[in-house]
Amino acid sequence: MERIVEKNRKNSGKILLVGFGPGAEAHMSVRALQAIEEADVVIGYSTYINLVKNLLHGKEVIRKGMTEEIDRSIEAYEQARQGKTVALISSGDIGVYGMAGPTYEVLLQSGWRPGDDIDVEIVPGSTALSACASLVGAPLTHDFCSISLSDLLTPWPTIARRIDAAGRSDFVLALYNPKSGRRTRQIVEAQRILLQYRKPDTPVAIVKSAYREAQDMQRVRLDEMKDCKIGMLTTVLIGNSSTYFEHDLMITPRGYANKYKNLTGEAIEGEKRGRSLSMGLSGWKRCVREYLRAGNDYSLRDVARHFDSPTGEIIAAISEAGPHAADGAGDYTAAPVLHTIASVIEAAKGWGLLRVVIRNDAAAVSELMVHAGDFSLRRDWLNIENEHFHLHVDWTSIQQAWLIRRADKLRGVHFTDAKNETVFNLSLVRKNGVFDADALKAFEQDWTALTEITEVEKASNE
Ligand SMILES: C[S@@+](CC[C@H](N)C(=O)[O-])C[C@H]1O[C@@H](n2cnc3c(N)ncnc32)[C@H](O)[C@@H]1O
Repeated sequence: MERIVEKNRKNSGKILLVGFGPGAEAHMSVRALQAIEEADVVIGYSTYINLVKNLLHGKEVIRKGMTEEIDRSIEAYEQARQGKTVALISSGDIGVYGMAGPTYEVLLQSGWRPGDDIDVEIVPGSTALSACASLVGAPLTHDFCSISLSDLLTPWPTIARRIDAAGRSDFVLALYNPKSGRRTRQIVEAQRILLQYRKPDTPVAIVKSAYREAQDMQRVRLDEMKDCKIGMLTTVLIGNSSTYFEHDLMITPRGYANKYKNLTGEAIEGEKRGRSLSMGLSGWKRCVREYLRAGNDYSLRDVARHFDSPTGEIIAAISEAGPHAADGAGDYTAAPVLHTIASVIEAAKGWGLLRVVIRNDAAAVSELMVHAGDFSLRRDWLNIENEHFHLHVDWTSIQQAWLIRRADKLRGVHFTDAKNETVFNLSLVRKNGVFDADALKAFEQDWTALTEITEVEKASNE
């Protein structure tokens, strides 16, 4: 009964937002075919209308140009308000760089709300990246992301930052809208950014007009990409660090080699079927300590680089060692200071001459020799000043302090930010390889006092 009332109330129009897949009818979903069949009016970009022309017999067809996207949405709304069923069609998935977003924006701005008398249905389709991937092998079997190189509506610095993040994070990339008659430099820039992180021979597949008459594929290396034939009907798939070509197939391994001796074989030592990897979320910090126990002369930065993690995470891993040496981090120990970090600066006044190390985002490292008496905390700034230099650290960026020691080589503190990156660290200075006895004694006493307070605080918070 309720459904009948609902149906009667909604006797106006309907907008079907239909993604019809890459192009061939065989790759359209059953619902996409039905939706076009149901429609009184079909609206779309001329090229898309041509791709489905066999399905349009007896229908009102409204063709629009490439730049008339908002017009297409407005037209769909106008037609639906006249009580018609309108199919607004788009290639691939209409929600992926497609008309679904603009149409909802037009509707909402016109005062339409979900449940009003114009129904909206989105019919998903196979997007270009799946279609293109299927033609060249299995390049997307691990984490991937898609980035559109079109800067018509997105500022280039935003696009460049996304390419950089994807490159750095070892995502497989699918580049949509890679190049047009006017936009020819974007693909060159994308290649330049990615080559900072990827090997020149990283596999790249350039797929044009997947599942359409003019379908074409090129398999190349990343350093050749910019010189290839690329256009608006092309999607570019760029492998990650483990993607390879074999017999013309582009394959990104799923990761079985991290766990099994071969695809069908037993789990390798330390790994269990059906369980997270030893390097999974709950185990990877144990692996950090094991790496340090191996006895090599690794600095914290070496370890951070090896695990591709911020130094704060590495120090946290050290600090989580159990009471037994078998779980320790070799000659490293560490402890967090959770309560007011300013008390560490205060304590440091008894640690004699200190080396302050600051790295900037590029490649410069500053090392200053100071006494903590040169430190002063003024509002949001930690000022480190003497007659030779003035250094100002934004104290609001500091989230955590970590006491760290290593055998008789290192006593110090890392101050880390919200991303667990070290903002600066300070360490006691050794003379002829030996710490000043008073400074060392003060440091050890402060370590005990500061960690005891932290323990009490942790317990009261639990
Ligand atoms: C505006 S986006 C539309 C994406 C579409 N909604 C989808 O989900 O595939 C246009 C871009 O999609 C990619 N594309 C769409 N169809 C394609 C096909 N059949 N073969 C290769 N790339 C395609 C190209 O990168 C093209 O520049």
